[in-house]
Amino acid sequence: METVETDVLVVGSGPAGAATALALSTYGVPNVMVTRYGSLADTPRAHITNQRTMEVLRDLGVEDQVTALATPQPLMGNTVFCTSLAGEELGRLRSWGNDPLIQAAHELASPSRMCDMPQHLMEPVLVNAAVSRGTTLRFHTEYLSHEQSDDAVTALVEDRLRGDTYRVRARYLVGADGGRSRVVENAGLPTVGRMGVAGSLNIVFEADLAHLTAHRPSTLYWVLAPGATVGGIGAGLVRCVRPWTEWMVVWGYDLDAGPPDLTEEFARSVVHRLLGDDTIPVRITSTSAWTVNHLYAETYADRRVLCAGDAVHRHPPSNGLGSNTSIQDAYNLAWKLKLVLDGTAAPALLDTYSAERAPVGRQTVERANRSIGETAPVFEALDLLSTSDPEQMWRNVGARKAATSEGAKRRQRLREAIAAKVYEFNAHGVEMNQRYASDAVVPDGTPDPGFDRDPELHHQPTTRPGAKLPHAWVVRGPERLSTLDLGGHGRFTLFTGIGGGCWEEAAAAVRRELGVELATVSIGPGEEYEDPYGDWARLREIGDCGALLTRPDNHIGFRHAEASPEARKLLLGAVRKILGHG
Ligand code: FDA
Repeated sequence: METVETDVLVVGSGPAGAATALALSTYGVPNVMVTRYGSLADTPRAHITNQRTMEVLRDLGVEDQVTALATPQPLMGNTVFCTSLAGEELGRLRSWGNDPLIQAAHELASPSRMCDMPQHLMEPVLVNAAVSRGTTLRFHTEYLSHEQSDDAVTALVEDRLRGDTYRVRARYLVGADGGRSRVVENAGLPTVGRMGVAGSLNIVFEADLAHLTAHRPSTLYWVLAPGATVGGIGAGLVRCVRPWTEWMVVWGYDLDAGPPDLTEEFARSVVHRLLGDDTIPVRITSTSAWTVNHLYAETYADRRVLCAGDAVHRHPPSNGLGSNTSIQDAYNLAWKLKLVLDGTAAPALLDTYSAERAPVGRQTVERANRSIGETAPVFEALDLLSTSDPEQMWRNVGARKAATSEGAKRRQRLREAIAAKVYEFNAHGVEMNQRYASDAVVPDGTPDPGFDRDPELHHQPTTRPGAKLPHAWVVRGPERLSTLDLGGHGRFTLFTGIGGGCWEEAAAAVRRELGVELATVSIGPGEEYEDPYGDWARLREIGDCGALLTRPDNHIGFRHAEASPEARKLLLGAVRKILGHG
């Protein structure tokens, strides 16, 4: 039987697999990506693309391509609650960073903007870039099984065009094969939770809905109609795929009864129900049934097999975290694979992948599932859960307009219930506050002061080891750069300032003695980079002559507040520890 050799075999070409292949190829690691079907995602699927993911894509050199294709942040702005698109509007929530205060927080947090990038557009960008940088892609190729030895993992794959099987022998295998992962199953990774919590339908369609939507631009229009609480994701949903002509409806079904027969007629009737106007011409382009899941893997790796994306965290689309978390998994993993494969790091570095990403995956699963339950108070505020009689439901919806104290109470309850959905539609902290604790992070011994505000809602930048490098605009002559642009690029970076010469010397020693790619950046008046607004000085939490070491994923690996006669020893020790040699 034919055997193909490579360094890394990536199974799956969704956001997790494509981003893994892209990062590996960007870092010069030979890799083969196999994917079961003959095409990439053919439906919009995941779409919300948050700032952290855009930062990752920026570092991987595809941010501009994504921005050019995506719906921009201002058009994502209002989350609308209504009885149907043509029916009564119940309220709106400024969402996805479009509340003026939260908008400011987004501006301050990152050089990158959030956007809406449907998965069928995202995957080609990632895959094209990966292939153009060296990834070998095999469509119609299904992973079947694998076995591991001390120095390799050998997968058996089927060429579905030819109908025969062959082997791929790799140093590592990345299982990015989605929510029904065979790799996770074969690797025996322990999981917590369950699949199939509720039933849901996706109906993708084309219709000109500009007259119902363009004046309140949004990615999501939630419909509180009779039947909307059966299964599903909390309510009926009309999601914008392309303003204002391509759409997707999400509608629940009773799992016990099984998915309905998804005829075109049925799909059209659901769409028209949510639009509230059956005279609108609608062209159905696809339908599918799926389940809400609540499951995460406790560990993401079994020796040479490492898993990423939905394979290890399975949850509903609430909060829009699916492809974001998947792409971020890939970014965490790829540099570690590179350094282990080229011999710079010990294999122990790969253990930190699971230690760092499994808590994030768990948080994602819990948050997304909790968000579904948090829609119920909107229904309760309208007294929609006490009856299933549609006539009574409409009367209850109307009761909030009464000039009575009961009417006032209902109005107030509804405003509060909608405002509370900020945890789903503006959870900036969930998106940006990921802090890692593992052997690839060297604590500096200072006590963790915790968060000043709700860590789910608010991003709190810090340079504490484990956190993402804070963003600040700095300049080099006429050029404006984010601090994040100075780090990343697949290498370590040491940030210091005036009087930090000892750290620059220490960095040179690290390069010499450990063979690590390590850039140095000095920020301050008269240094290569200047901090004209003083933003960096406010954010860096160290003195001018202190040091911050970022890992290739722009997370802080080590910091020291001041200059030190022991700088060389401290930095060497820190990098050795991060590389798994300490
Ligand atoms: P993903 O499932 O995207 O990719 C898995 C890849 O592995 C695919 O390329 C597949 O072909 C391949 N594969 C699987 N088994 C294989 C095997 N044995 N051998 C080789 N290749 C194999 N999210 C959201 O936020 N909003 C939404 O509306 C939706 N809607 C939605 C609809 C449908 C139909 C699906 C399947 C998923 C969604 N999602 C979603 C979820 C979202 O798409 C998901 O979180 C991300 O795609 C996860 O990315 P992954 O790369 O981990 O898996």
